[in-house]
Amino acid sequence: MLVPVADSAKSPLSSLTWPVRTERLEIRWATPPDAEATWRYRRLEAVNRWLTRAPATLEAYRAHFEDPESLAKTLVVERGGEVIGDLMVSLEDAWAQVEVAERARGVQAELGWALHPDHAGRGYATEAVRELVRLCFEDLGLRRVTANCFADNEASWRLMERVGMRRELHTVRESLHRSEGWLDGMGYALLADEWRARR
Ligand SMILES: CC(C)(COP(=O)(O)OP(=O)(O)OC[C@H]1O[C@@H](n2cnc3c(N)ncnc32)[C@H](O)[C@@H]1OP(=O)(O)O)[C@@H](O)C(=O)NCCC(=O)NCCS
Repeated sequence: MLVPVADSAKSPLSSLTWPVRTERLEIRWATPPDAEATWRYRRLEAVNRWLTRAPATLEAYRAHFEDPESLAKTLVVERGGEVIGDLMVSLEDAWAQVEVAERARGVQAELGWALHPDHAGRGYATEAVRELVRLCFEDLGLRRVTANCFADNEASWRLMERVGMRRELHTVRESLHRSEGWLDGMGYALLADEWRARR
């Protein structure tokens, strides 16, 4: 098993065996040298237009990528030995009333993704995210996964729908985009029992 610099004891991903293989892809926990490979596409405006961060330089990008908290929730997607994308799996507590809050700790995850545009349109993101969802429910035993995006990021919410996620939110001008101002948002989710029922 490949153990990244991230404090492995803190990440639930440390309980899993890496890499994970799908029909066409290999998914593994990110390591610091993956900064360069992921920067190749994350530096592109077509990709970072929708992402939380758009660092101006590789150095600034690397500083965040290599942060142990960030690495602990980052996976990379390889095709034939080349990094073509990355995934985020961020464990969260569910909202709960105080008396039962302990039972709601770490029961769900927010998911995220980015794919090199050279590899878009071939179902690779779908294949990788389907595996990530399986891993969240079967291997990590989570009860719910979520994902959010700007409403205008149609490629992203269509991906959520392809992997079986359900639209729960369409917010109105509540998300601030760095150049486009206040935009609508989309929120999707999938429960473990919904996912199991469909299999
Ligand atoms: C979101 C993102 C990962 C989606 O990428 P994508 O290429 O559309 O998704 P996939 O790799 O699953 O490919 C799906 C497409 O391939 C087609 N396809 C071909 N073979 C396929 C297969 N075997 N399985 C599924 N789809 C297949 C699908 O029909 C679909 O095409 P369409 O868009 O014309 O309908 C990509 O647009 C991206 O990285 N965007 C920038 C970063 C970003 O926005 N991240 C999310 C922030 S919230």
